Amino acid sequence: MVPMQQLASVIDGAVIEGGSGVEYSSRNPSRTDEVVASVRLASAEDFRRAAESARRAQRDWAQVPAPVRGRVIANLGRLVEANKTALAALVTREIGKPAGEALGEVQEIVDTCDFFLGEGRRLYGQTVPSEMPDKQLFTFRVPVGVAAVITAGNFPVAVPSWYLVPALLCGNAVVWKPAEYAAASAEAFAQLAWRAGVPAGVLNLVFADGPATYDGLEQALVAGVVDKVGFTGSSAVGTRIGELCGRHLQSPCLELGGKNPMVITPDAELDLAVEGALFSGYGTAGQRCTSLGSVIVHADVHDEFVRRFDAAVRAARIGEPTGDVLYGPLLDEKFADGFEKVLGWIAAHHRVLGSSAVGRITASAPRDGFVGDPSTGLYYHPVVLDGVRPGDEVFQQETFGPLVGVTTYRELDEAIELANAPGYGLSAAIYTTDPKSAFRFRAGIGAGMVSVNNSTSGAEAHLPFGGNGRSGNGSRQSGIWVLDQFTRWQSMNWDYSGKLQKAQMDVATVEPDLDYRLPSQPGS
Ligand code: UN1
Repeated sequence: MVPMQQLASVIDGAVIEGGSGVEYSSRNPSRTDEVVASVRLASAEDFRRAAESARRAQRDWAQVPAPVRGRVIANLGRLVEANKTALAALVTREIGKPAGEALGEVQEIVDTCDFFLGEGRRLYGQTVPSEMPDKQLFTFRVPVGVAAVITAGNFPVAVPSWYLVPALLCGNAVVWKPAEYAAASAEAFAQLAWRAGVPAGVLNLVFADGPATYDGLEQALVAGVVDKVGFTGSSAVGTRIGELCGRHLQSPCLELGGKNPMVITPDAELDLAVEGALFSGYGTAGQRCTSLGSVIVHADVHDEFVRRFDAAVRAARIGEPTGDVLYGPLLDEKFADGFEKVLGWIAAHHRVLGSSAVGRITASAPRDGFVGDPSTGLYYHPVVLDGVRPGDEVFQQETFGPLVGVTTYRELDEAIELANAPGYGLSAAIYTTDPKSAFRFRAGIGAGMVSVNNSTSGAEAHLPFGGNGRSGNGSRQSGIWVLDQFTRWQSMNWDYSGKLQKAQMDVATVEPDLDYRLPSQPGS
């Protein structure tokens, strides 16, 4: 057996002693008796100290020319690529993500580094004409300062890289608080960043539980040592973080939950839709923020879609995540408990399909074709729930597990209304062969990301990623759009006329003849 790691927070390059006194065990969810890392959790004061330390380190980092910071990001991309297999294997071991998907997750870091390494040579500002002579206007992007980044463990390295890479490139220092249940993956990624040349004090790693993180963040905001908060996690916690940041006049970058709909029109290619629904509903065991929540299918094709979808879900391979499976275990005990609660929302009017049983996969509730031994891990049967009604809890709330509800519609406007009804707005898909339906859907849907004939999950790493409503506050990550999270615009005006020229008042005027009309033409 691979030895267990001992982990603790790292502030300014030093592993901190003490902490909160709580030791957390990060376990392999496919073998829950295997502890991957024993993690000494930090206190709220440690979190604040990390931010204070980041504040000191940030001043020097901001002086490093942006193209040189870009080289550090280039190094990180290369180092991640060279360690791709090992990092992906650790992700699989720590959170149960199937091997193929874990490799994809690591690739997403490489893609993000590829995109941002060149941004160090851009980070463009503008030169802007002045309304007065002998005066020039400019804009500059300046780093925000210290970013506190709090991330979930379903994407334990890729989603953190969406924050860390642009934040560091733009000249900020970071305090990163990853999910405890993904601590070893986080530590491995931080090691790669430090070895790529990110100065120790510029990236601080804090392992802490929710209450200590919240208190530590509050202390840091009161002390004025955090300038930007990035949070990926539940809508409930995101709401609290948003309130806290609001009290300090800050606008956080929030990436929250989703109840992502997939509309299937009567002209859709049904096999394609089934394939998309299978991957987006059950890939990552339904534990992506972009996972499919509800299929909203036209009444004319409902029965045929459900028949094919049920068959595909029944045939899917589930099990040991090192193997070739659609999904493995749930992330951690906490998520298994949450999914058990969701299963309690199944009501008498629902038709339960997709597997041989509901709930935990066990010797007495087996799953056909299961790969490995289900008794060692947090494995759950997939659920297809037909007959879901808009008023149902399971229609309204994110389920974060392998469950997809099916609801029918008759008119496209009704489908759009149903798709928007839960009030989230992250990702939405439509399967259709009719361009009018695709464009009407795009215009009507409240989601930040729209797929046509594609899965709700699996966004590419250089398009704006983010949601609206219960999915977030409109902030966007990735590509050029995330630069607005980690920089602020500074404008500068420079008057070299040698006199005070007052804007709006000392501006030359041009007298037009607005009464002038062209001579009328014969016959007009
Ligand atoms: C998440 O679940 O928080 O688009 C992010 C996707 C992935 C990222 C998901 N690239 O599904």
